[in-house]
Amino acid sequence: MSMTFDFSGQNVFVVGGTSGINFGIAQGFARWGAKVMVASRSQKKVDAAVETLKELGAKASGVAFDVRDYAAVEAGFETVRDFFGGEIDNLVSGAAGNVPGRLVDLSPNAVKAMVEIDLMGTFHVMRAAYPHLKKPGASVVNISAPQAFAAMSHQSPVCAAKAGVDMVTKSLALEWGAEGVRINSISPGPIDGTEGMVRLAPTDQIREAIVKSVPIKRFGTPDDIAKAAGFLCSDAGSYVSGVVLPVDGGWGVSGASVVMTAAAGFMDKLTQK
Ligand code: NAP
Ligand code: COA
Repeated sequence: MSMTFDFSGQNVFVVGGTSGINFGIAQGFARWGAKVMVASRSQKKVDAAVETLKELGAKASGVAFDVRDYAAVEAGFETVRDFFGGEIDNLVSGAAGNVPGRLVDLSPNAVKAMVEIDLMGTFHVMRAAYPHLKKPGASVVNISAPQAFAAMSHQSPVCAAKAGVDMVTKSLALEWGAEGVRINSISPGPIDGTEGMVRLAPTDQIREAIVKSVPIKRFGTPDDIAKAAGFLCSDAGSYVSGVVLPVDGGWGVSGASVVMTAAAGFMDKLTQK
């Protein structure tokens, strides 16, 4: 990745930032000179991510919490001032869980887990982060998904939760704007090599169908998403607030729903449903 942005002197917190897309975002900010904190459930994953961020030359730290537990999230945010020595310039919130399945095949607890991580987790992170955001000047990015606008079979909890995430983004753009805090969602398309894609595209056949359905004919990378986050958090995005930005090679307008529904039918065959 070339040095596209300058975030030196800025404090960046990435929740759910220890693997996949969000870790790619954390690495982007580390390369662009920011001080970076990451959080997720597993202390082991937090430690490994921090190590990598330090290897990139960043001052980095981390904290373990489950976004479903508000008290733990609040306690986690209490540690940011100690490390940063100041407020958060840029917050990225992207913890999520996805168990694909028809609603009638998912247990109520599986549905609850997805909604609580994706939607309640976003509420918790926004609420706990607010006192620690730089005002004016902070930028917040929530990580959404095409499920928020394209209904998908075998994805009803994630569709509902991510649609909710985007309305949290838009509502808070109204509540926080006057204090100089911008907030936006990024909606990544299919991003190769991630846990999300392992779960949603488990075979070569599904992967090929996905690539065919993306107008620019390739999977995305975590770096593609990092650069969009860099744009939204940089001065280049200074008048952007309350938007949901698809970063998906045009997938959303080309039928993300259609291809994923076909993939879901194929998954049914794999699981003999
Ligand atoms: P991932 O590697 O599984 O990333 C999820 C991150 O969230 C991990 O750091 C995980 O770490 C953390 N996490 C999960 N549950 C948590 C909880 N309850 N509390 C705190 N942290 C939690 O998956 P990914 O595929 O890169 O997805 C990242 C984001 O991009 C998600 O918001 C997803 O919906 C979105 N997205 C992904 C794709 C894609 O193609 N992959 C497409 C569109 C949108 P721990 O296990 O340590 O908790
Ligand atoms: N198929 C069907 N049900 C499943 C499942 C699977 N593959 N994985 C979990 N579940 C069910 C469990 O059986 C449980 O329901 P039950 O109590 O009725 O048996 C429920 O989901 C919660 O599972 P549990 O393992 O206790 O939850 P958790 O809180 O430890 O983990 C998940 C949350 C389920 C979302 C887990 O998949 C996860 O940690 N995901 C994070 C990574 C991820 O999904 N990345 C992609 C992001 S898009």
